[in-house]
Amino acid sequence: MNRQDQEAYKADYAQAKKEGKPFFPYAIYKDHVVAVIVFAAIIGMSIWQRVGVGPPVYSASSTFEPRPEWYFFFLFQMLKIFKNQNAFLPVIMATFIVPNILMVLLLATPFIDRRAERRISKRPFALSVGILVFMGMAWLTYQGETGAAPVGGGNALTFTGITPGSAAAAGQAVFMDNGCTSCHMVKGVGGQVGPNLTTVGTKTFSATYSGKLPVPVPGVKGPTYTGTGWYVLHTQCPICAKPGSGMPAFASLTPTEYANLATFLNGLGTTYK
Ligand code: HEC
Repeated sequence: MNRQDQEAYKADYAQAKKEGKPFFPYAIYKDHVVAVIVFAAIIGMSIWQRVGVGPPVYSASSTFEPRPEWYFFFLFQMLKIFKNQNAFLPVIMATFIVPNILMVLLLATPFIDRRAERRISKRPFALSVGILVFMGMAWLTYQGETGAAPVGGGNALTFTGITPGSAAAAGQAVFMDNGCTSCHMVKGVGGQVGPNLTTVGTKTFSATYSGKLPVPVPGVKGPTYTGTGWYVLHTQCPICAKPGSGMPAFASLTPTEYANLATFLNGLGTTYK
């Protein structure tokens, strides 16, 4: 702040102090009146405009679209911008790092901009930054509202080569019912946190793991796991099959469910398309 600004500020301040109203009781009184009105409005709305209870949660639903309330769309969309093979990076970037950098910059503004000037018309830089941030949030909100749903009607997916009642059909149901599509895309349906699995069956996986399988599955034995055996090990213990894997373990299926799921995955892109 230069000398001239300082003088002007002091003069303004003295003037305001002479003419203005004192904080106590004047401003406090006004604050309280507004607070009471706001609370009365909230209480009134909750009495006269009750919000109903939605249908009970059905975890195997294939039509549910996991979207947040509209005022979180900008964060929700940011998760998609930081999508990556790693499950945790998008969450940390979009919900912690980026918002906190912006908050710290906002808090630091009075220390960065030391001029006494407070009229917004004389602060084109601050004004442009403010407008840009709000436009960015509005754009992200719009994208979050109109963008593709992260998880789609996976149960409606059909694969050539899968006959009803077969092990692969049962495996497909295990896949859909356990939320695998919340992270993995299959034939255009699903999330993008993990790799696309549409043709995962064309890959050759192999792992050596000498520990015990958390849930023993008949016919699947170590220490070398390949083919469907690898999928069984990977589902129960991703890091055992792929050191450093960011995928959560699914350790509470039945032996048959593991076997069917492995049959389905092992054929994706080859037998089942
Ligand atoms: C929370 C997100 C998440 C969920 C839910 C999830 N996965 Fe994964 N999955 C990942 C990530 C991330 C990777 C990549 C791990 C790595 O290699 O670092 C992965 C990797 C895989 C791979 C290896 C693919 C390749 O090409 O390397 C398979 C197969 C797989 N997942 C199957 C499944 C199945 C089956 C389910 C459901 C039972 C499931 N995933 C649920 C995040 C998830």
